Amino acid sequence: MKIIVGPYLQNVSRNSMTIMWHTDAPAFSVVEYERSHRLGWSAYTGRISPTFDSRIEDSRLKTIHAVTLDDLEGGTEYFYRVSSGETGSSSVTSEPATFRTAAQDDSPVSFISFGDSQGLASALFRNAELARKYHPMLCVGTGDLAMNTTEHLRSHFFENTGELLRYTPWFATMGNHDAPSEGYFQYFSYPEPRYWYSFNHGCAHFTVANSNMDYRPGSEQWAWLEYDLDRFRHTRWKFVFFHHPPYASNNSEIPETRVLCPLLERYGVDIVFNAHPTIYERSCPLTNGRYDSENGVIYIVAGGGGYDMSVVTSELWDHLHPTSAMAKAENHFVLTRATPDECCVRAIDNEDKILDSFSLSRTPGKKARMADASVQLPYPDNYELEEGSVVAGFEEDSIRWVLPRPHYSLDTECTRSGGTSIRWNHDGEDPVYPALRRVLGHDGGVSREVGEKRFLVSTWVKTQAVKGGVTVSFEWSGDNGFLDRVESEAIEGTQDWTRLTFEVQPESLYPYHNELYACRVLLSARPGSTGTAWFDDVSVQEAIEPQPTPGGSYRAEM
Ligand SMILES: [Fe+2]
Repeated sequence: MKIIVGPYLQNVSRNSMTIMWHTDAPAFSVVEYERSHRLGWSAYTGRISPTFDSRIEDSRLKTIHAVTLDDLEGGTEYFYRVSSGETGSSSVTSEPATFRTAAQDDSPVSFISFGDSQGLASALFRNAELARKYHPMLCVGTGDLAMNTTEHLRSHFFENTGELLRYTPWFATMGNHDAPSEGYFQYFSYPEPRYWYSFNHGCAHFTVANSNMDYRPGSEQWAWLEYDLDRFRHTRWKFVFFHHPPYASNNSEIPETRVLCPLLERYGVDIVFNAHPTIYERSCPLTNGRYDSENGVIYIVAGGGGYDMSVVTSELWDHLHPTSAMAKAENHFVLTRATPDECCVRAIDNEDKILDSFSLSRTPGKKARMADASVQLPYPDNYELEEGSVVAGFEEDSIRWVLPRPHYSLDTECTRSGGTSIRWNHDGEDPVYPALRRVLGHDGGVSREVGEKRFLVSTWVKTQAVKGGVTVSFEWSGDNGFLDRVESEAIEGTQDWTRLTFEVQPESLYPYHNELYACRVLLSARPGSTGTAWFDDVSVQEAIEPQPTPGGSYRAEM
């Protein structure tokens, strides 16, 4: 007899844990366990020999085993092992491992999340191996573990996450590729009511919704969600999970799920975790689709659980969503660590490098505020065009720019004027994303007149050994993402400060201007470019008849 899946951990609470495994033939189920009395927590290394002084047995013969231990102490580590066999035949026993029960309500909690792991086994394996190093207390998936079948769930998902799940309970969220698989319910033990569910762990409440089933107002799921979020509205941190993202770049969002957003906003949800697009993406804090630093909900797409990223890389930044604060086409998992006062989130790639990091801090009685982010937020609180123009010398305006690391940084050594410029450098083959800033925003809808205005766009550029070319461009986005872009000529080679300028004609937006949501200016390099460049004194100004004299039409350049 062999154990072909597991053992693995499920459905942890303060006083219970469910342990599951799959045998290749019908067999009885035994779990032996013992409180560990170790201080701290780390994966079992074999240096301690547990005696397994407690035992629970189920004599019914089955292949998929689920045994719930429900007499446990909260916040406590236990050793465990499982056995199976048939009466009169040899049995099989697993190696000892450990688990830890949930702690009391005001305790710290840590968890990892990823989804869309169905594509690339090596990336999934690497993700799971790296995630173990961080000793998360639990894993909450974002859906699409495997590709449609129970067999793939076993041979792909469980095969590549075995060690992680042996020590860390996994809570599953149903993705569209999980829905056809019977294994999604056979292999996982969910809290009631199962199709969607919630649980508490330490200082956080976790709500797992199901975007494959009806979630619209009036549906059973909507009523349950409202009940659940209301019931736990005073929990320190509220995290919600469902597969299909309301906001995502590359035209891969599922706008229907935005019907849930008012509910999430009303009950003060802090972070929503989605997947479906096979990327990492973080939105700005949003209320009703608008930037809201006070009360906004942050949406994270954790969709790089194991996928061939070469398929998506070239497309992503052509269709950046206006609400995006950060997007990366890398395999990754998201690690969240929350204490009652602070929540730190990191996206970690398959090289164990940090793709993104931000933290939220909480003042009692108030919604959490973003305390720190690894990139600056793209939108100022009031992002209407100021007096018809935007001028960025970067001394006072760098906060409004998204500067993707490591290729863009602020430079105080080489400037055209003032004390700061933006430096771009690239000498590898990794994709380079543009630095960008929103210059016109949405306040109940960008007025149609904005789409009919002419703009003058300008920046000063200095280059050093640039192959390919650096450019400045102006881009429109609509409710459903990218609409159109106008780009300047490119500068390459080694050149002293040179002005790049062009005029944006309203007809270039035709026929999109009715959909207009936002405009932004981008500082970028053509794909595959290498070298170093500095940008300074970026200017976007509405062109007003009669034609302004060249140069004189711009605000002071700093
Ligand atoms: Fe999906």
